[in-house]
Amino acid sequence: MRRKDFIKRLGYLAAALPAASFLLQGCAGLYYASFVEEEGVLRVSKSEFTQIKGGKQIERDFVVIQSNSMQYPIGIFRTPKLDYTASLMQCTHRGCELNIGGGIYNCPCHGSEFDRSGSVMQGPAEENLKSFSITTDNEHIYVHVS
Ligand code: FES
Repeated sequence: MRRKDFIKRLGYLAAALPAASFLLQGCAGLYYASFVEEEGVLRVSKSEFTQIKGGKQIERDFVVIQSNSMQYPIGIFRTPKLDYTASLMQCTHRGCELNIGGGIYNCPCHGSEFDRSGSVMQGPAEENLKSFSITTDNEHIYVHVS
């Protein structure tokens, strides 16, 4: 490759990097909700599932919370019937931290998938995710972690 061609290609690459960075950020679109932790209960406002985008109100299917007392985050999914499920985002195969995408938990290490309630959909994981009981009132979701 001639020097001139190399520099030209380098210029294209430099121009493409910001776009690639934007796409990667889009993939990592987990929303970390704020919460209050009291005596083994994580209290999350239901309003954390609502966002305003482009002047419109949009409802999130899930939020993620990260407690200092836990090594892995917890995913909270909301069903269309306004029920909630909460699962520890630790893969039961070998412990990798899970991602959320397409309405399920998925593992970046070996490809296991878990549904919204933490049940195994695809291995190699064989055990369901650790899930937490949830109670609610009009304004809050309470995730019982102990
Ligand atoms: Fe998740 Fe292996 S650690 S599939």
